[in-house]
Parts: sequence; C-alpha cells; structure tokens
Amino acid sequence: MGSLLCVVRLRYSASCVSPTNPRTLRYGAAAIAEAARLIAAGQCVAVPTETVYGLAADATDSRAVAGIYAAKGRPSFNPLIVHVADLAAAERIAVFDDAARDLAARFWPGPLTLVLPVKPDSGIASLVTAGLDTIAIRVPNHRAMQALLAACGKPLAAPSANASGGISPTRAEHVAASLSGRIPLVIDDGATPAGLESTIVLRGHILRPGPITAEALGLEAAESMGAITAPGQLASHYAPTKSLRLNAPGRVDGEWLIGFGDVAGDDTLSASGDMVEAAANLFEALHRADASSASAIAIAPIPETGIGVAINDRLRRAAHPR
Ligand code: TXA
Ligand code: MG
Repeated sequence: MGSLLCVVRLRYSASCVSPTNPRTLRYGAAAIAEAARLIAAGQCVAVPTETVYGLAADATDSRAVAGIYAAKGRPSFNPLIVHVADLAAAERIAVFDDAARDLAARFWPGPLTLVLPVKPDSGIASLVTAGLDTIAIRVPNHRAMQALLAACGKPLAAPSANASGGISPTRAEHVAASLSGRIPLVIDDGATPAGLESTIVLRGHILRPGPITAEALGLEAAESMGAITAPGQLASHYAPTKSLRLNAPGRVDGEWLIGFGDVAGDDTLSASGDMVEAAANLFEALHRADASSASAIAIAPIPETGIGVAINDRLRRAAHPR
C-alpha cells in the first residue's frame, strides 16, 4: 500500500509539480513566439498586463478555456475577461452602443473592462461567458499582452493568473508560486504598473472598482452587485492564507502591519500617502505579509476616495471570513 501511494505521488509530481513548471522567460521576441506557440496548441500562458498578470488562452477554443478554469481551480460560473488588440476587434465580438464606444475611445487601451451584449457569431467559447449573453472585454495597455495578441491573432481570455480565491499576481514570481505545476510558461516583464485589476463597467454602472475611478468615468458604483450581473464578485476573494485586520492604527502582538502614510508598519503601501503607489503595491504587500513569519496581518486605514475605493474593495474581500 505504501509503495503504491509512493508511485502515485511520484507520478503526480513528475507530471504536474515539477520545479521547472512553469518555465519563466523574460519578455522579448523569443518569449512571445513560445507563448503564441503554446496558445495555438491549446495551452494557457501567464502574461503581464498593466493591471495584474493574466492567464491567457485562445478565447475561441473551449478546451483551452477549460484549461484556464482547471489551472486556477475556478468555479465554472465565474466568467472570464476577453482581451483584444483594439476597438475594431472588440466590435467583432460585442455589441457597442454610443456610450460604450465613448468609454472605449477615452480609456482604451487601458484598465477598463466593458460588459456588453455578446454577438451570436462572435466565435467566443461559451465557457468564457459562463453561459451569459454578455461578455466582459478590454483592450490592454501593456507591451507583452499586446505583442501576444498580435502574435496569436485571436482574442485571449485571461483572468488573473492566480489559483482561484488567492491574491492577484503583480510579479512573475507570484504566478509561479500560485500556479506551480499547473501551467507551462510565465512571461516575466517585471512588476505590473497599476497593480489592481481593471475597472468593470456594465451599462453605466461600476461592477468592480479599479484603476480608472468613478470620478474619471463620471459614473456611480453599482448599488448592489447581484449574482447575475457580477458573478465573480464573491465576498471572499483575493484572500491571503492568514487573517487580515482592516483599518489598524497600529500592530497588536504577532501581527505583520502593512502601513500607509503616517502609520509605519513592517512594510508600507506608500510612506507618502500616495494612493496610486498604494494600489500598485497592494497585492505585493499582501504576498509579503502572507510569506512572513507573523501569524496574522493588519493594515492601516486607506482613505475611501479615488482609487482608494478599489483598494478598500479588495481589502474587504481579502479580510472576509472564509
Ligand atoms: O485587470 C483585469 O481585469 C485582469 C487582467 C488579467 O486583465 N483580469 C481579471 O480577470 O481580473 P478576472 O477573471 O480575475 O475577473 C473578471 C471579473 C470577474 O469578477 C467576473 O465575474 C467578471 O469579471 N465578469 C466577467 N464576465 C462578466 C459578465 N459577462 N458580466 C459580469 N461580470 C463579468
Ligand atoms: Mg482574479
């Protein structure tokens, strides 16, 4: 019995949990060519965007999309964002009205996702939308994701490249740690500039706050995020493995304190109280806190203004009891 278990374990580790899986390649022509080859073969590859690292696969290939769900361990009811090179490519997939076209013109390429009716002949695998008649779509503003889109010539479905429910990855190392043994390749192009997932807008309402603020959009946040309109907005999300205490003016025993502004901690989101810097550092600070020897995490208060709305949204989900 013992030897059988050992064989099973060995076979499992040989096929899945090898230390060289995922392979990491620095951004460049060779990395993009290899990633495009893997995607054409129906695999998924981690690639940076201006928000967080995404786990990309051909959005028209249902088996490849199933591979994303499998690698993340993601509940199948949670639909994915589709990335395209430009507005013309987006209009082949989704139905735009004037308001949507106006937002696209103002913020694309950039960290804005539009939820729009999906065209019946879009060619997008239904697993991407999890059966909804709408699709979440965006044009990313990052050289690696744009190069990959150009090399593949296909729309790419890409959720954040972390195991489902975990902290979003802002560095290639985070991806490798979270999806070790589950994906073949990460393209490393350093830390992602925004550090927070894109703002999601549905018919003039913000479903998920993000780097593009309500003020910039001229929109209000959605009153309630119902199960149908925002299936992915699970209460407990982006979660570290340790408990997280919010609005902490200081540390209690055993805690790792993430500071902000005047609240100095073991680490800080921004010593100068700069909210954009704080957003860019948020997930990395949570990763560091989780990896520390402290038994719990606390974080200083973050003002609920501008991009602080998005930061606090992520923090409340990260702190939600599981
Ligand atoms: O910045 C980002 O948006 C990153 C990068 C990789 O582009 N992607 C990302 O994807 O955050 P993901 O899959 O982790 O989050 C997608 C969110 C989920 O909350 C999902 O429920 C929502 O978008 N969503 C997708 N399709 C939707 C739809 N048709 N209607 C409403 N919400 C949708
Ligand atoms: Mg995510």
